[in-house]
Amino acid sequence: MTNQTFFSHIFNAIFLISIFYQASYRAEELKKTEITNSVDQQLIDSYILPKSHPLFNRLKKIFNQPSMFKSTEHFEKAGFNIKLGHRKLMVGAHPSIKSYLFKKFPNSYPQQKQLDNFITRIKGAEILRKCIAILKLKHIVVPKKWLYKLPKSFSREKHEDTYLLVVENMDIYEGYENPQDQGSLHYYNMNIEVLTELCTLLHFVGGCDAYPRNQPFTKSGKIAFVDTEHIGKLKGHFLKHIVPALNPDLQPYAVALWMKLEQEGNN
Ligand SMILES: Nc1ncnc2c1ncn2[C@@H]1O[C@H](COP(=O)(O)OP(=O)(O)O)[C@@H](O)[C@H]1O
Ligand SMILES: [Mg+2]
Repeated sequence: MTNQTFFSHIFNAIFLISIFYQASYRAEELKKTEITNSVDQQLIDSYILPKSHPLFNRLKKIFNQPSMFKSTEHFEKAGFNIKLGHRKLMVGAHPSIKSYLFKKFPNSYPQQKQLDNFITRIKGAEILRKCIAILKLKHIVVPKKWLYKLPKSFSREKHEDTYLLVVENMDIYEGYENPQDQGSLHYYNMNIEVLTELCTLLHFVGGCDAYPRNQPFTKSGKIAFVDTEHIGKLKGHFLKHIVPALNPDLQPYAVALWMKLEQEGNN
């Protein structure tokens, strides 16, 4: 064998070995992502509205036109009554379905981000429910939340699934623009027992996007945590947005209770 042939065999061998390692590395990586995806898929599946739920077949009928989620205006034209959310989220009620609301971002918002946001809201509701049970609270409720998978025609890409969030419609007082609005009045007239529970829960979970409109009063006098997107964050919101909404006679009590809980947390 000439020197040249010998070296060319060596190079070929090194080349083949490196291809082999690259391939097996890729296979390992692929396996890892498959496992991650299947874990994620399991989580998604556990949050999906069960087919046995009485709502399931009715949703098929009302969510049949992908263009309905192009914008709030399209959603409204499709027959939904729109509630005001922040930024992009569209919250709609359908006249034929009284007990549930539907939350969805416009079609232009990436599907993965939509799904992540819905899962965050479902997890937030789960955390709150657990904390309410641990603290044995009587005056605070959280709506049930599920994912609903829309038909394939709603997906822009072949491989992706499209979801919306179905939530229990809580019978709440609305209106927080002015102090004389129903929602504002109920906050102003909050009693000390409800306030103690609200303050204790908000502190226990580490805060949330606390505004009267996100934790409104129900007609049965309870506080409903309807916006569960930021559980465990924004701890300052209680003092900043909840306390000022209360009757001034109750405000010193609310501040003192919060400070006491903070102090206990530091010890
Ligand atoms: N489960 C619910 N029951 C009754 N009303 C709700 C419910 N969820 C949302 N809403 C109404 O829709 C509004 C916007 O919903 P929210 O989840 O707070 O959206 P965003 O995260 O965009 O603020 C709420 O302030 C409330 O008036
Ligand atoms: Mg909100």
